[in-house]
Amino acid sequence: MKKHIVVIAGDGIGQEVTAVGKQVLDKIAAQYGHEFTYDEALIGHAAIEATGSPLPEETITKSLASDAILFGAVGHPKYDNDPTAKVRPEQGLLGIRKALGLYANLRPIKLFDELLSASSIKPEILKGADILFFRELTGDVYFGERGRKDNGDTAYDTMIYSRYEVERIAIKAFDAAMTRRKKLCSVDKANVLESSRLWREVIQEVSKRYPEVAVEHQFIDAAAMLLIKDPKRFDVVVTGNIFGDILTDEASQIAGSMGMLASASVGDTTGLYEPIHGSAHDITGMGVANPLASILSAALMLDISFGMKEEADAVVNAVDKVLKAGYRTRDIADASTPADKILNTAGMGEQVL
Ligand code: NAI
Ligand code: MG
Repeated sequence: MKKHIVVIAGDGIGQEVTAVGKQVLDKIAAQYGHEFTYDEALIGHAAIEATGSPLPEETITKSLASDAILFGAVGHPKYDNDPTAKVRPEQGLLGIRKALGLYANLRPIKLFDELLSASSIKPEILKGADILFFRELTGDVYFGERGRKDNGDTAYDTMIYSRYEVERIAIKAFDAAMTRRKKLCSVDKANVLESSRLWREVIQEVSKRYPEVAVEHQFIDAAAMLLIKDPKRFDVVVTGNIFGDILTDEASQIAGSMGMLASASVGDTTGLYEPIHGSAHDITGMGVANPLASILSAALMLDISFGMKEEADAVVNAVDKVLKAGYRTRDIADASTPADKILNTAGMGEQVL
C-alpha cells in the first residue's frame, strides 16, 4: 500500500522520539512491501522561531493532504515561566486538532507485564489492567470563551459543550466498547457543572442504541480515585477534554511511565498519532527519552489509519520482546535492572527495529 505521512516532530524530546517512531514505520514498509512517503512540517516553538506562528498555514495544508501524521510534542521552558506570552507553542497543537477536526483522542492504557514493577502501584492491583480512554479534544474549557476583566484582576475560562460534540465522541466510544469487554464509563462532574449535565444526558441517549454495553457514570473526582484503587474495573472510558487530559496522565502510572503511552487523534479528516507526553525540557538533548510511546503511536497509525492490523501487531510484539529481554530506558528501569540493559533513545530504537 502507498501512504503519505507528515512528520511533525515539534520541540524538545519530540524531535528525539519521533525520529525513532519514523524508523519503525520505515522498517514496516520495507518488511511488508508498503511504500510510505514523508513530508515534514513545523509546529510549536520551532515554528515560532522560524515563522513567528506556532501553526504555520503550510503545516495545516500539508497535514490535510496526508494519510496520517506522526507528531512529537510542543513546548519550551521560556513560555512555561512566562504566563503573559501571547504567542505560545501549545497554540500550535490545539490549533491543529481544531483545524483538522480531530475531536476524538484515543489513549490505550495497557500494561506490559514486564513493567509491573516499574509502576508505583501494587502489581496485584495492576495486573490485567487494560483501558481505552476517549478524550474529547476540540471542545471544553480549552476552546470556550476566556478573558480578563476588572482591569485584569479577574480571569475566566468557559467550560462549554454542544450536543453534537458529545454525541460524536460517545458514538466512537460505544463502537469501541462493542469490540472490547462491552463496558463503558462516562466521566463528568454533573453534580456541579451544567456542561456535564448535558454530557451525561447525551451519553444516556446514545447508550439506548447500544443495549449490550453496560454503562456507568462517575464523577471526575471519584474516577481519579477508582483509577488507582481498582484500574481493572474500567474498559472504555469516555470524558471531556480537561478531565481526559488529567485522568490519562494519572493513568500513565498504570502503564509504568509517561514514556510508554501512545495516542491517536481522529475525526473528520486525517489521523494524528502522538505520545501523550510533552517536550520534557528536563531531559531534552540528553538522548535518554523513552521512544516507546512514539513507536506505539506509529503502531496505532498502522492499525487505525491504514488498517494494517498485522503490521501494528508486529510493532507491539517487538516492543514486548524487547521488554521481555530486559531492556529498559531510564524511566522504566528499577533497582533490579542491570546497568548494561539500560538503553538510551537510539539504543532502545535499535532493539525494537
Ligand atoms: P512532560 O510530559 O514533558 O514531562 C513530564 C515528566 O515525564 C518529565 O519528568 C519528563 O522527563 C518525563 N517524561 C515525559 N516523556 C518521557 C519520555 N518519553 N521518556 C522519559 N521520560 C519522560 O510534561 P511537563 O514537564 O509538564 O511539560 C514540559 C513541556 O511540554 C511544557 O512546555 C508543556 O507545555 C509541554 N507539553 C506538551 C504536550 C504535548 O505536546 N502534547 C503535552 C504536555 C506538556
Ligand atoms: Mg497532558
